[in-house]
Amino acid sequence: MVPRSAAVKRSRRAESGRGLLAREGRARGNGFGLSPAFWARFVENHWRRRPLILKRPFSVPLATGADILRGIVNARAQFRADDLKTPLKFFVEQALLQAEVQHHLPAARDSTLEDYVARVTSKLRGRPFGLIVTEYPPFDAQTWLRLREFLRPLYARIGIPGNPTQTGLFLGTYARTPFGVHKDLHDTFIFMIEGRKKFRTWPAEFFREEQDMTRSLHYRSFLDRATTLDAEAGDVLYWPSSYWHVAEPRSSSTRWRNWTRAWGPRRSETFFPSIRIGCRRAPTRCLGSSRTPQRL
Ligand SMILES: [Fe+2]
Repeated sequence: MVPRSAAVKRSRRAESGRGLLAREGRARGNGFGLSPAFWARFVENHWRRRPLILKRPFSVPLATGADILRGIVNARAQFRADDLKTPLKFFVEQALLQAEVQHHLPAARDSTLEDYVARVTSKLRGRPFGLIVTEYPPFDAQTWLRLREFLRPLYARIGIPGNPTQTGLFLGTYARTPFGVHKDLHDTFIFMIEGRKKFRTWPAEFFREEQDMTRSLHYRSFLDRATTLDAEAGDVLYWPSSYWHVAEPRSSSTRWRNWTRAWGPRRSETFFPSIRIGCRRAPTRCLGSSRTPQRL
């Protein structure tokens, strides 16, 4: 077992996009579209090759905590009406809640995300939870339009993927992804809304040569060979679908224990909302550039 401090110290950091952004230009004005020159370099060097972290590429936040709260309240309204079809999952520690989920979602009496997190944490007697809205755009049109603006020049270059793009919202007090180390079918962009998270990633071949780590939380001995994406609010991250990954909030374990004992948040960064766009890779059929990005 590699000691934690040593492992973190030796862990490789993902390539920063600072140079790429400086050379090719950040999004202009209040826009969320990076330049075609940026995307040309991105596709050449990173797309389906290796992770990248972009430090605050936009001049304004993609979404605020209030936007996210409104979006989840909208999702809750649909959940009450038709709970089987609403794309929403609620975890308590590593367990997926199958009943009474609506009582753990934001309600009208939660005026902020912090209020919501405090209420649910008290209800769960301090046990960490995770809320995932697996298909978020129907509940937050403004954020979806901004994400579409972000993707448009990428899809103009590579063609629209043959499978739908998925956009999920992740929020919670979990210390690590509730379902552990895993790979997705999608190439992933993460947009950090609030708080800080570390994303640990490993290329596909890494665990082929090691033990099977699918859905495991016992990955600490492999941290020295992980590529770490250290993200804070406003950052945008990318990793290919071939990469194994797991997310960790950046608060210390001491602070985490104190916080869970108190049954309520002491810091606004403890719930870590982030949005994930998944550009699904399999099957790899691509519709080509004859479909315009405006039709996303
Ligand atoms: Fe994932």
